[in-house]
Amino acid sequence: MSLTDAPRPAAVPARGECPVLHGAGPGRTNADEVARLRAHGPAPQVELPGGVIARVVLSHRLTQLLSSSPHVSRNWKASGPADDNKVTVPWYWAWTVEPAGSNALNSDGDKHRRLRAPLVVALARKRVDAMEPVIKEIVRAALEDLADGPSTVDLVPAFALRVPHQVVIRLLGMPAELLPDFRASAAGLFDTEATNEQMVRSMQGIRDVLAELVTLRREHPGGDDLVSDLIREADAGENPLTDIELRDQLLLVITAGIETTVHAIGTLLVDLLTHPEALHLVLHRKVAVADAVEESLRRNSAAAAVPMRYMVEDFTDPVTGLTLHRGERVILHLAAAGTDPEVHEDPGTFDITRATSRQHLAFGHGPHFCPGAALARLEIATAVGEFIRRFPATRLTDSPLQPVESFIVTGYGSIPVQLAR
Ligand code: HEM
Repeated sequence: MSLTDAPRPAAVPARGECPVLHGAGPGRTNADEVARLRAHGPAPQVELPGGVIARVVLSHRLTQLLSSSPHVSRNWKASGPADDNKVTVPWYWAWTVEPAGSNALNSDGDKHRRLRAPLVVALARKRVDAMEPVIKEIVRAALEDLADGPSTVDLVPAFALRVPHQVVIRLLGMPAELLPDFRASAAGLFDTEATNEQMVRSMQGIRDVLAELVTLRREHPGGDDLVSDLIREADAGENPLTDIELRDQLLLVITAGIETTVHAIGTLLVDLLTHPEALHLVLHRKVAVADAVEESLRRNSAAAAVPMRYMVEDFTDPVTGLTLHRGERVILHLAAAGTDPEVHEDPGTFDITRATSRQHLAFGHGPHFCPGAALARLEIATAVGEFIRRFPATRLTDSPLQPVESFIVTGYGSIPVQLAR
């Protein structure tokens, strides 16, 4: 049986009967797709790539409500169609299914709390403060290399990806001997053209590196790295995490921490390069770069829509009367929530002085709220703040910007610019 003909709850249409959620593509952004879907109500049924049917929640209010509702689960076992537990599911939601490993993102309740708790401690303020000088050092080294290189450059590999990639390597305290294997597998993990088989191979490669790292830190605990912190925290609980569980939480940190941050940095750079008045306000310290970060995340949430959730019970929205049925797959569209016209006036406009900029769900809401949010905010603000001061007169080249072809993340695959001081 394939995914598309797995048993479906009542009222779920067949393939071809509802609008599609395929994400950005040639000539189409995630925002364009959201605008088209809004005509179908606050939570229409959509067809995902591969012909899979799911509900996509577009309203900020409903996303908030469902994010922390016991009616909704992140774990397919709670009520998902049986076939969702195959590694052959399109890789874009491999995170939900058990063969990809048990992690905080794909679990609920007590299991989720147990897996998440050490991560929350390991990524807490103390860690973020300790990373501040490291992030500055990484950003400044990247800017030095930009200054020494050609003036026309693609900012995605040279800057927006380089920063979070190196931050994660330093955060994990990755020793030099594991770096080549880590780099090779991590590159495969973020290859949006990858087939399922390639993705499974890259995941296995990175899992092997992380397993080695956990073993190494068990034998030789480091003083100041996230893996040693995580092991300490995990062991301190009543029900310590196994080494395999630790490895899988680290894999989650890597994917959740790089693929999102690269796009948040890239999008804010483009926002400022295309809005000279906003750039002027930030450069002249009339508006803090942190405010520009929030407005950019609101308008183009880097984690646009993270699959997959499942309805555990029927749920009727008290405001609209809309019912979501037990067994339905649900996607909370965080990018759509950020541009909900019920919350934001003129939501498509980039306005860093907007009073509602911080009312977004770019880091999620409820029990799965991103534990790396403070670190991510610091990374984005440092990277973009230092870039615009170093190269304030930079211009985008004439090549049209291509959005990443995905409904899960919003960002640019490349950002060609002419650097200028
Ligand atoms: C701009 C950057 C980032 C964005 C937009 C982002 C967004 C998100 C969102 C929306 C979720 C919740 C998904 C859901 O509710 O289903 C999440 C979860 C998570 N994020 Fe982030 N994230 C970012 C950076 C980071 C960083 C830097 C780290 C760690 C170094 C991180 C680690 C995690 C982890 C471990 C989870 C799972 C939490 C759980 O399920 O309990 N994220 N992130």
